Amino acid sequence: MCLTIPAKILSVEKPLPGSKSANITVEASGAVKTIKAVGLTGLRPGGWVLCAYNTAVRAISEHDAGEILALLEPKMHMDTTALDPGFSDILKSASAGELTREGIARLLKTEDKLELETLFAEANTVRQARLKDFFCIHGIIEFSNCCVRECFYCGLRRSSEDVLRYRMTPDEIVAVAGDAVKRRGYKLLVLQSGDDFYYTDEMLVDIIRRIKKGCKAFIFMSVGERSLECYKAMKEAGASGVLFRFETSNKRLYDSIHPGQSYDKRIQLLKGMKALGYYIASGFIIGLPGQTLEDLADDMILMKALGVSMVSAGPFIPCALTPLAGHKAGGAMMTLKVIAISRLLLPRAKIPVTTALETIENEDGRRLGLSSGANSLMFNLTPEPYRGDYRIYPDKYHGREEMWEKYGLFKEALSYKMLEKKMFEAFETDK
Ligand code: 5AD
Repeated sequence: MCLTIPAKILSVEKPLPGSKSANITVEASGAVKTIKAVGLTGLRPGGWVLCAYNTAVRAISEHDAGEILALLEPKMHMDTTALDPGFSDILKSASAGELTREGIARLLKTEDKLELETLFAEANTVRQARLKDFFCIHGIIEFSNCCVRECFYCGLRRSSEDVLRYRMTPDEIVAVAGDAVKRRGYKLLVLQSGDDFYYTDEMLVDIIRRIKKGCKAFIFMSVGERSLECYKAMKEAGASGVLFRFETSNKRLYDSIHPGQSYDKRIQLLKGMKALGYYIASGFIIGLPGQTLEDLADDMILMKALGVSMVSAGPFIPCALTPLAGHKAGGAMMTLKVIAISRLLLPRAKIPVTTALETIENEDGRRLGLSSGANSLMFNLTPEPYRGDYRIYPDKYHGREEMWEKYGLFKEALSYKMLEKKMFEAFETDK
């Protein structure tokens, strides 16, 4: 679903007799415009509505409007005359679409308050200019925590003995997806599992077909390394995208923490998925042991080269009983820098605030992420009793999702067609 924007009502025109639709003049995001309100009652000057694409979808209280406006608050004007000219030059070339490895590493390196504020403000401005206030909330269903891999960082690795393993049945998955779309208003669902071959290609295809038959939604598959034939069949069954991280662009680092897997194979698979016509959501882990700022710069350059439509990058979080348990977590600040630079590199990409950032920063992670260039959130739809057992890392954050869902745009509010168009626009890759 999309996040709607609060608008203050300035005046309300009388609806034509027999019509449910009235024109209202509102002020939203600093602009005054006349929009349509369909089937809403009790609208009056001084009141508030939530709107999306020039349509008021619901009346809300001033308090609720304040809650969301605080999130979208524009940055204050800053005096950038004191900025290091080298730093300003990098930002200038970024806005001309040219960011080099050295430039990115320089941006990643900064700890200077003014430079950081300028970077985040610039990313926020790019987000606003290119995507307007189009925020989305997507849902993720973690349908199995079984995995055949041994990734050094992951709490669900095959040999983790403290994990209570579960597998949702196809019926359960289809039911949860249908409910999320039809009742809760989600439009994009990620179906995620470990690399779990209990689910055959045919089972995955069947799950996708059944979900697509029952409701209208974009489905992104995040089921790990499977054959290209499997990905082809899932695409034909109706999957739109894949969420498949390359984890790190440093081949030596990749191979050292993924026993039995190969960096080259993973990149080949990603390229194959792209060639199949999938929207690609991909990215990397921030703060892996031995990872340098140049590695992170390469990660971002690789994301662009792969033509990702959605960035998926989050901080490393150490997980007990894994080989990297004693290694320190990736920082929230570094993650925000990655979000901001990704926005400069890929102005129209979807950049979600990842659960890992929310986990280290809680509610503030969402606000900080969204004001540093991110434009979507990923909410957990995994049902109880499974939810707590999908422990890629400990203490995953799931707070206040109802508060956010309140601002989501629900199916009955606007025609699906309009949303679909917007969605495809948002998924167009930056050329
Ligand atoms: N910290 C951060 N991210 C992790 N992932 C797995 N384990 C961790 C961890 N400990 C990420 C990987 C994987 C995604 C599903 O979760 O990047 O692709």
